[in-house]
Amino acid sequence: MTTLAIIGGSGLTALKNLQLTRREVVRTPYGEPSAPMVFGQLGGREVVFLPRHGPSHTIPPHDINYRANIWALKQTGARKVVAVNAVGGISPAYLDPGSLVIPDQIVDYTWGRAHTFFGSEHKQVTHVDFTEPYCEELRRVLLDAAGRAGLAAVGRGTYAATQGPRFESAAEILRLERDGCDVVGMTGMPETGLARELELCYASVAVVVNPAAGKAKGAIDLKDIERHLENGMAKVRTLLEHAIPLVAG
Ligand code: HPA
Repeated sequence: MTTLAIIGGSGLTALKNLQLTRREVVRTPYGEPSAPMVFGQLGGREVVFLPRHGPSHTIPPHDINYRANIWALKQTGARKVVAVNAVGGISPAYLDPGSLVIPDQIVDYTWGRAHTFFGSEHKQVTHVDFTEPYCEELRRVLLDAAGRAGLAAVGRGTYAATQGPRFESAAEILRLERDGCDVVGMTGMPETGLARELELCYASVAVVVNPAAGKAKGAIDLKDIERHLENGMAKVRTLLEHAIPLVAG
């Protein structure tokens, strides 16, 4: 059985229920990952956990070394990756804070991030298919696990990856909505694309922590986000516990 990787986002810098076995500092040709890899047992399986923003949540979305993170996870032997992402809700069915979404599409609005392993230093020009950006098999497992855990989860949705670290303007959110996006976050890209380049089976659990800019009265309330992050991540922990035994291979 291969190791299953979990990338924690905002509100999930550690997996409390992970029975820790070891930590490993992995070096990569792209520099340092966000943190040492944390190995442990969860749901009868070896899991490697990596907090995307660092162990103390200090690395902002645009400064994350996504290439080092994905390379390091592949290096540990992981072939499947569950990513956890906090998001704002855009379209009507995605506005409730605390909702879980398993996205099936993504649009990249980020810029200036090291976004590929196939740059000009690479031996030859390489393109990868990204028609279905997420691993369908792993998405199904996550949805199945949500059902078994009695958690409501929206089974599809288009994730807009924005640059941050500021939130969007109301007009920017309207533009994303016209583009067909349902939720918005700052970390989905280039992570999802890099996972595809290394042929990892990658899926995301997105947790709605606020209505996106202009979708509720007034400004985005950071205190509210904190509260919804806490509740949402408690659900994510439950979801992961149910999902892990269902992951094949
Ligand atoms: N926009 C972008 N990223 C986010 C948001 C948002 O409203 N909420 C949580 N991450």
